[in-house]
Amino acid sequence: DQPLIVTLDGPAGSGKTTVAKMVAARLGIAYLDTGAMFRAFALHLGPQSWTRSEADLRNGLAGLGFAVKGRGEESALLLNGEPLGAEIRQEEVGMWASNLARLDVVREILKQAQQRLGAETPLVAEGRDMGSVVFPQAKFKFFLEAAPEERARRRWLQLKEMGVEEDLDALAENLRRRDDQDRNRTIAPLKPAADAVIIDTAGLTPEAVAERIVQIVARLP
Ligand code: C5P
Repeated sequence: DQPLIVTLDGPAGSGKTTVAKMVAARLGIAYLDTGAMFRAFALHLGPQSWTRSEADLRNGLAGLGFAVKGRGEESALLLNGEPLGAEIRQEEVGMWASNLARLDVVREILKQAQQRLGAETPLVAEGRDMGSVVFPQAKFKFFLEAAPEERARRRWLQLKEMGVEEDLDALAENLRRRDDQDRNRTIAPLKPAADAVIIDTAGLTPEAVAERIVQIVARLP
């Protein structure tokens, strides 16, 4: 029997992270931020890594191992035993991650890591392809939508709270480019799984979105 997996996919700034933490807390399980895994790889490899050869990337990523500790809001993603720092949150690193995320070799390495974590621990798994590719058997799949301006505003606020100041217009433009790239790539593009419940988060608080998800998970056996 597979541990419980709830998948939560959507574009940048759709509120996934906030909602995923709340749902994980309500269900008493861990939360996995798979965007942070792509960002950690991007930061580890440095600028222009996506132009490197497959063998070179494989080498650069060999020996890196992820683990998940704790539950709910306290869930932490560790890379070789160390928690990931705030540096991965910079928008520039997000763009690097999106560039790397187009490559089969990188997606394969991370998919295996994600599936291994999911086989060990019940998870709320958040990302772009959790329901469509990584956990196609998950019983509960959700996809969050929100208007682009709203997503840019949320992202801006979230970064500000972390002490990262970004220009709102530049951020909106960056998110738009990153989303286009994520939606239009050949491998594991951002799109709802056929059996995902789509939630338009416009006008809903993160609490309300989390509540809707928990209701559905609690209702089905
Ligand atoms: O979620 P976050 O914005 O932190 O993700 C950073 C980038 O990592 C995304 O723009 C996307 O290109 C990539 N990503 C992905 N698949 C996932 C999670 C993130 O391709 N499951």
